[in-house]
Parts: sequence; structure tokens; C-alpha cells
Amino acid sequence: MRKIVIAVDGPAGAGKSTVAKIIANKLGINYIDTGAMYRAITYKALEKGIDINDNDRLINLCKSTEIDFQDENIYLDGKIVNEEIRQLQVSSNVSRVAQIKEVREIMVYLQRKMADRYSVIMDGRDIGSYVFPNADYKFFLTASVQERANRRYMELKNKGYDVTIEDIIKDIETRDKIDSEREFAPLVKAKDAIEVNTSNKSIDEVVHEILNCIKMG
Ligand code: CDP
Ligand code: CDP
Repeated sequence: MRKIVIAVDGPAGAGKSTVAKIIANKLGINYIDTGAMYRAITYKALEKGIDINDNDRLINLCKSTEIDFQDENIYLDGKIVNEEIRQLQVSSNVSRVAQIKEVREIMVYLQRKMADRYSVIMDGRDIGSYVFPNADYKFFLTASVQERANRRYMELKNKGYDVTIEDIIKDIETRDKIDSEREFAPLVKAKDAIEVNTSNKSIDEVVHEILNCIKMG
């Protein structure tokens, strides 16, 4: 089988990671959650009490940090941090950290290295537009803010987090704005990406729609 790269971009809660994970399993390729990488470095900075506006310290922190994926787990300096990086405190600071060009360059270097080794489906904000402009397939998932916030709210509630829908709407709107307006590699639909509006669609329907576009071999 030839090596392929599938890019899945879009705003928070559009369904990227859920759908990309299922497709990775169906196609037998690797799933890489690039948002988890930005979340991991943000989590480490918060744990160390680093000022989230101190670019120099954040860049240095990034240079001395190891991030890796294995068996659907994200490792930060050798420790699994799947749950820790989902906290609302990380969500509300991650877009600030992800604005820093040098931080992005380090992450993008790692992302490209991963795709050198094996076929990947990678989700994020800039995968089709910046990280892999020549990806074999590009998808851009969307849904209304209300629907995305409801989904995230249900998810966090079910995991036992104490959150309100207002907190989630605020987090999503703020991140959408910072992610779309940043100077370097913003959240944008690549010209050649296929847009999939996931509002009122089940996960299965979205998976089906995407798989219909993909030819392996
Ligand atoms: O899962 P959710 O959509 O809430 O967010 P995420 O995919 O975990 O991404 C968290 C944050 O990381 C985003 O809001 C962006 O600020 C940043 N990010 C980015 O800048 N570029 C990417 N390729 C992926 C995420
Ligand atoms: O990765 P992203 O932030 O784009 O979204 P996600 O974490 O995959 O999806 C957020 C939540 O929406 C998850 O709990 C999914 O199960 C749910 N979802 C849904 O209800 N309907 C869809 N079509 C896609 C996702």
C-alpha cells in the first residue's frame, strides 16, 4: 500500500478527532492529534507556573520537551497525559501558546517527521493549509458554535468535569477567534479541502461521507 496523508482541519468540537480516529482504524493507518501536542506543552507550562505571555520561556520549554504518540496515548516527557491536557484551564490557554511562531515550527517539524515514517490521518487547524499542502486528501469539518459547544459540554459532563455550557461557548468562541486571526499558519480552510458540515449529522454519517472520498491502494 502506498503511504498517504489525510488532513482533517476545523474549529473546536467539529468532530475531527472522533471521526479521524475511526477512519484511522478502518484504514489501518496512524491517527495523530496535533491539538494534543499544543495542549501538552501548554499543560507543562501551567504545571511549571510559567507565564503564558512569556514567549521566550515558552519557546525554551518547547525545545526541552519530548512529545510522542503511541497506541492512541500522548506522552509528555515519557508520561501519558491524555486526561490532564483536556482540562478547561489548558483549553483556555492553549491558543495563546499556539500563536507563537517558534512553538509552531517545533510542532510542525515533529508532525512532518511522523508522516515520513508511516501513513497518517492528522487533525488540527493548519494541517491541510500549512503542514501538508500536498496532502493526498484534505477535509475541513464545520458545525455551528451552539452544536459544537453542546457536544463538548456533554463530553466533559460525562467524564465528570464540573463545567457550564456558558464556559464552553466562551472557550470555543475565544479559541476560534485567536486561531483564525493569528499571523502564522491560522485556522483556515485550504482551497482544495472538502468541506463537511457536521451539524445534525451522526458520527457514522460523517465517517461515511469522508470514506467515500478516499481511495487506498
Ligand atoms: O479538541 P479541540 O478542538 O477542543 O482542540 P484541539 O484540537 O485539542 O486544539 C487545541 C488548540 O490547539 C486549538 O484551539 C489551537 O489553538 C491549537 N492548535 C493549533 O493551533 N494547530 C493545530 N494544528 C492544532 C491545534
Ligand atoms: O476534535 P474536535 O474538537 O473537532 O471534536 P471531537 O472531540 O471529535 O468531538 C466533540 C464531541 O462531539 C465528541 O464527544 C463527539 O462524540 C461528538 N460528535 C458528535 O456528537 N457528532 C459528530 N458528528 C461528531 C462528533
